Amino acid sequence: MRAVIATEPGGPEVLTLTELPDPLPAPGEVVLEVTATAVNRADLLQRQGFYPPPPGASDVLGLECSGIVSKVGEEVTGWQVGDQACALLAAGGYASQVAVPAGQLMPVPDGVSLVDAAALPEVACTVWSNVFMVAGLQPGETLLVHGGAGGIGTFAIQAAVALGARVAATAGSAEKRAVCERLGAEVTIDYREEDFVEVLRGRGGADVILDNMGAKYLGRNVDALATEGRLVVIGMQGGTKGELDLATLLRKRGAVIATSLRARPTEEKAAICASVTEHVWPLVADGRIAPVIHTKLPLSEVAQAHRILEAGEQVGKVVLTA
Ligand SMILES: NC(=O)c1ccc[n+]([C@@H]2O[C@H](COP(=O)([O-])OP(=O)(O)OC[C@H]3O[C@@H](n4cnc5c(N)ncnc54)[C@H](OP(=O)(O)O)[C@@H]3O)[C@@H](O)[C@H]2O)c1
Repeated sequence: MRAVIATEPGGPEVLTLTELPDPLPAPGEVVLEVTATAVNRADLLQRQGFYPPPPGASDVLGLECSGIVSKVGEEVTGWQVGDQACALLAAGGYASQVAVPAGQLMPVPDGVSLVDAAALPEVACTVWSNVFMVAGLQPGETLLVHGGAGGIGTFAIQAAVALGARVAATAGSAEKRAVCERLGAEVTIDYREEDFVEVLRGRGGADVILDNMGAKYLGRNVDALATEGRLVVIGMQGGTKGELDLATLLRKRGAVIATSLRARPTEEKAAICASVTEHVWPLVADGRIAPVIHTKLPLSEVAQAHRILEAGEQVGKVVLTA
């Protein structure tokens, strides 16, 4: 099979398209003939040598893909050769074939092309598991989404609006704020020019915050929480070590939660994929959530795809076709 690996830690130029042996399905796995994959920020860190794949996972980059089932392992039920699917992966999506635990496959939502479906698993599973399964966002509550025009942000805004929540979003330019507004955000905040704490305080605070920044925003996020608010940290773009004012958190009866999807056991990922299929795919099928795709490039242009994310040019996802 064709696959992309990083030959050594470094810039986009270390990404190399190479030939590797075709994967075989272990018991409980299927092999997908990959149609498309998508780029995640974690891929940039892995390429730089800062985010190794979990033990036992392939060195091939790629946390999600779409494709057609080409081999079915023992003990797999519900999937057959020829089925179309998209998948949440621990690794291996930047390839022409990938072996994946059957529980991490999801059907392609109605109305979405097989290529575009590659842009959905990581954002859908991350947003659904954090904002809804963990933080329990309710209709009528306010969600603050940091980085509203990114891959995660564009999905989070749409999902929260579809389920009846009110959304505030931060973004780094007028154009990106306009994207957030088009997706349904009631309030948008230019994080380069405005203080999101002031804006949120003026609206009673955020019941849930989905945070990509980590340390840099920890104190201000707690300040922006409403009483009984839940801050969910999923990214550390602003560093890992911050100071938490427990008095403020205690007074608000607030919660600070941090989670990572990639290293979870297969059974937990399977439970998230099943919940996404049940609760989120109907919202995609009826058009209330659409994949937001900045550009589609062939896998051979993977270095360019990484440069786009590194420069922060994208709105939504960058897809690579196998
Ligand atoms: N824990 C998990 O399981 C998990 C899973 C998936 C993703 N993540 C993390 O979630 C984060 C978002 O992922 P993604 O795929 O959406 O990446 P992405 O598409 O590259 O988006 C990154 C976002 O960060 C925003 N940003 C940059 N500086 C900011 C600042 N000072 N304040 C607010 N926002 C800022 C950017 O906003 P502008 O473009 O408007 O400048 C952009 O929207 C990443 O940190 C990623 O590692 C975590």
